[in-house]
Amino acid sequence: MKIRQCTKKDFDKILAHFNDYWDIDKYTPDMYQRIRYLHHPIWIYEFGNTAFVVEKERILAGYLFCNVSQTDPLTAYGILFAVHRSYRRQGIGKQLSEYVFQLMKSKGCKYYKAITTEGNESSIRLHIELGFEFLGEPNERGVPVVKNYAGPGEDRVVFRKRL
Ligand SMILES: CC(C)(COP(=O)(O)OP(=O)(O)OC[C@H]1O[C@@H](n2cnc3c(N)ncnc32)[C@H](O)[C@@H]1OP(=O)(O)O)[C@@H](O)C(=O)NCCC(=O)NCCS
Repeated sequence: MKIRQCTKKDFDKILAHFNDYWDIDKYTPDMYQRIRYLHHPIWIYEFGNTAFVVEKERILAGYLFCNVSQTDPLTAYGILFAVHRSYRRQGIGKQLSEYVFQLMKSKGCKYYKAITTEGNESSIRLHIELGFEFLGEPNERGVPVVKNYAGPGEDRVVFRKRL
């Protein structure tokens, strides 16, 4: 597997095959659209130096876009992260994350932060496996969330890891 910077061509490929990377059945149509809109071209044109893809067997097997926080320059933030459904549970998400952790550490970051929705079991499992801690408090289902993190009624699981 090869990790390299995401090009505009890769970005177009991700959007053209969006359902290969994100599980449409796990979200409301509104939420699914919101996730798609998070794939803003700014992450390639203006902030693309730390946007990476994994290539395996010439397939774009996964991607992880991250950046250094402006409010807290010691923290790197994972913005977009997905692995192609045909390549999941092969360690790609883990290896890509570890590559990015090293890189962001070399840029002076001491922490790495990411968020997900409370129903995203695979993401929660992966982040636990990677040694992240949860910020926030357990909700009524026992999932630690930060209340209203993404807006009114929009709780999120917020992860943080020391690099
Ligand atoms: C979350 C995601 C990126 C994980 O990628 P992945 O390449 O499949 O993850 P890995 O193979 O590196 O998993 C490493 C470990 O994480 C845990 N894990 C990952 N997916 C899991 C799942 N579906 N169920 C339980 N544990 C899981 C396991 O401990 C796994 O190790 P194991 O396979 O040896 O048991 C992938 O499921 C995905 O793209 N999901 C859709 C998009 C998404 O939700 N992105 C995250 C947004 S925050």
